[in-house]
Amino acid sequence: MSAAALQVDSGRALGFYGAHIGKKAVMAVTGFILFGFVVGHLVGNLQIYAGPEKVNHYAKLLHSMPGPLWGVRLALLVVVGLHVWSSFLLWRVQRKARPIGYKKKANLNSSYASRTMLWSGPIIGAFVVYHLLHFTFGTVLPGGLARLPDGDIDVYRNLITGFSQPLVALFYVVAVSLLGVHLFHGLWSMFQSLGVSHPRYTPRLKQFAAAASFLIAAGNVSIPVAVWTGIVR
Ligand code: HEM
Repeated sequence: MSAAALQVDSGRALGFYGAHIGKKAVMAVTGFILFGFVVGHLVGNLQIYAGPEKVNHYAKLLHSMPGPLWGVRLALLVVVGLHVWSSFLLWRVQRKARPIGYKKKANLNSSYASRTMLWSGPIIGAFVVYHLLHFTFGTVLPGGLARLPDGDIDVYRNLITGFSQPLVALFYVVAVSLLGVHLFHGLWSMFQSLGVSHPRYTPRLKQFAAAASFLIAAGNVSIPVAVWTGIVR
C-alpha cells in the first residue's frame, strides 16, 4: 500500500474514532473482547473443582508458551486501554451536553445503565489491579506465591490461601457481582451500539445478556465461597 493511501486510511480511522458512534463502536468491540477473556478465564478457574492437578496443569500449559501468553497480555492491555479511554471520552461528551446542573437530579440523558457503568467500571479496574497483586505477583498473598516442586506456580494452593481470608473472599464476591452488573449493561448497550435491534430479537438479546452475565457472576462468586466454606480445600 502506498504512503498516501495509508495516510488516507489512518485519517479515516481517526475520523471514525472522533465521531460519537466511532467511540461507541470501539467500546463495543473492546468490551466484547474483554467479555471473551472473562469467559475463558472463568472456564480455566472452574477447574479448581476438578482438583489441584487439573487447575495447575492448565496454568502450567499457559506458562509453557511465553510467546503467545505475552502476546495475549499485551493485546489485552491495549484493549483495556482503549475501553477505558473511550469510556472517558464518551463520559466527557455526555457531561458537556449537560453544562448546568438540573434542579432535580433528573439524569435525562444518562440512563440508569450508563450511570451504573461509570462507577462499576473504575471499581472493577481497581479489583483487577488488586487481583494481579494477589494471584499473579503474590504481593498481597500471605506468604507470597506458593510454587510446585518444579518451580511452577501452585495456583490451587494460592487460591486456597487467598480465599481463606474471609474479608478477601467477601471483596471478591462483591467485585465479581459488580462485574456481572457491568457485563449485563455492557452487553446490552453493545448490541445497541452495533445496531443489532429488532422487535423480535431485542427481548431475546436482553435475556441473553442477563443470562450470560448472571452465569459469569455466579461461576466467579462460587470459587471464593467454595474455598471460604471449606467445600474446596
Ligand atoms: C473468583 C474469580 C477469579 C479467580 C479465582 C481468579 C484467579 C486467577 C488466578 C489464579 C490468576 C493467576 C493465574 C496464573 O498465574 O496463571 C489470575 C490471573 C488473572 N486474572 Fe483472575 N480470577 C478471577 C476473576 C477474575 C476477573 C473477574 C478478572 C477480570 C475482570 C480477572 C483477570 C485476571 C487477569 C487479567 C489475570 C492475569 C493473567 C495473566 O497472567 O496474564 N480475574 N486469576
